[in-house]
Amino acid sequence: MNKEDVLNKLYESVSMMAWLQIRYAKLRDYKILDKIGPILKHLEEYIDKIRNNDVPVNWEIAERLNIALKTLTKENNEHDEDALNEIMVLDGIMGKELKRGLQKRLLISKEQIETRVSELAKEISRDLEGEDIIVVGILKGAIFFLTDLVRKIDLPLKLDFVEAKSYGSGMESSKNVQFRKFLELDIYGKTVLVVEDIVDTGHTFNALISFLKDKGPKKIVNCVLIDKKERREVDVKLDYVGFEVPAGFLVGYGLDFDDNYRCLPDIFVLEPMDKEDS
Ligand code: IMP
Ligand code: MG
Repeated sequence: MNKEDVLNKLYESVSMMAWLQIRYAKLRDYKILDKIGPILKHLEEYIDKIRNNDVPVNWEIAERLNIALKTLTKENNEHDEDALNEIMVLDGIMGKELKRGLQKRLLISKEQIETRVSELAKEISRDLEGEDIIVVGILKGAIFFLTDLVRKIDLPLKLDFVEAKSYGSGMESSKNVQFRKFLELDIYGKTVLVVEDIVDTGHTFNALISFLKDKGPKKIVNCVLIDKKERREVDVKLDYVGFEVPAGFLVGYGLDFDDNYRCLPDIFVLEPMDKEDS
């Protein structure tokens, strides 16, 4: 079976699921309706990934889903227990396939990170000597970088954190930045050293800097672990940069994908597994 056949089966399943949604809505069966919505979304995501060759084509999933849905769409058969269970099981398998479609490739080792962090700490210790410094870490991505860095900076420091959340889905950056945790220390008149994990499009970082500027610090200096310069959409000035990385979605050493992989000691690129077409 080739990819097109599998996709056609899956498209047919999408329309049957949509039809079932209407059916359950008419029957006011909200319990099932609440389950069908997310499954339909997973199915659409799964189809997208197959189309992009990001997950392997799996005929069995497509076929079993199609059969179960055909059973449910038969007249007065929308509560067939076996078919409903089968759909739940297949949803679980699709979820695993979606994850299995990605693999980690080592990009920056913990030894490289350690060396670079020491160099940055040395430069910062030299440049900021005599300043009254508050380090502001951006949760959660910068935690490991920050704790390694500050322990190597040979100056008296105070620590505070903000949590910036850009509400995007998956690996796409969102322009809508919100702050969920605010500063506890007063940074007025102080030198602020902002420690951030990644500057990608630059939207998060820009929002953060204007948020801090409003509080009247003497100056703001920044230290960023990863600079994805080529992806920049807005202009930002970076003072200390750990590594420049052209593109790719990174995980590990604080960086996450949906809160996964954060605690790995090295940095990896998350990328699709070897592509296969049939
Ligand atoms: P920006 O607003 O596009 O610059 O995105 C910055 C934020 O998105 C960072 O603070 C990260 O939390 C997150 N981010 C951007 N790229 C990556 C990545 O490759 N891996 C993990 N998180 C990322
Ligand atoms: Mg972040």
